[in-house]
Amino acid sequence: MEKKDQIIIINGSPRRNKNCNKIIKNIIEQFELNSIEYELLNLYDMDIDYCNACGFCDKKGYCRIKDDMTPIYKDFDNSKGTIVVSPTYFRSVSTKVKTLVDRTQAIYSSKYILKKPSIDTKKDRRGMYIAVGGEPPHEIQFLGGQLVMDIFFKCINTKLNYNIYMSNSDEVSYEENEKFRNDLDNAIENYIKEIKSI
Ligand SMILES: Cc1cc2nc3c(=O)[nH]c(=O)nc-3n(C[C@H](O)[C@H](O)[C@H](O)COP(=O)(O)O)c2cc1C
Repeated sequence: MEKKDQIIIINGSPRRNKNCNKIIKNIIEQFELNSIEYELLNLYDMDIDYCNACGFCDKKGYCRIKDDMTPIYKDFDNSKGTIVVSPTYFRSVSTKVKTLVDRTQAIYSSKYILKKPSIDTKKDRRGMYIAVGGEPPHEIQFLGGQLVMDIFFKCINTKLNYNIYMSNSDEVSYEENEKFRNDLDNAIENYIKEIKSI
């Protein structure tokens, strides 16, 4: 069944019961309290193949590969927003997140090569990126992931108004990091207000 106006939550961590998963649990609790519909994509439980640059989408505007990514294109189009929660691996998003991002090249091709967008480019959608990194904070800790997310959210025509970073997770866990939890709660509250207003 086609889902309308949901928030897509993308979980890029393989570790159950660790930081990204706990962040997502909190988001879901707030969504349920506020009757916000959502769809959770646990990428490590899904079968999403790599883009192999076959060039099919440059000609057809959709991806030739049929797997768990296939329904997600429509879900992005129908959504009111997307939230990506990813561990930081080598200063970027996790591989599973990057694999999903590369597959949205099909949307890119439909818009910029074929000029026949496969996504409604006028629809108002709102995004959030939450990055968790084990190192203590430093200037470029999240740089690679942020660059990837900036262009990904542009590709799926979703305004990325929230970029939230949690550093030092290998020393101070989500439960122990009160400041981060407060910042996150504020961001979720504002995000929910935005979603309700569109
Ligand atoms: C392959 C790999 C690469 C990593 N690279 C970085 C990094 O570049 N910067 C950083 O701050 N933490 C790095 N980490 C640490 C993770 O970001 C950290 O453990 C984080 O808490 C993982 O999220 P999770 O607890 O939700 O699984 C790396 C961990 C792994 C497994």
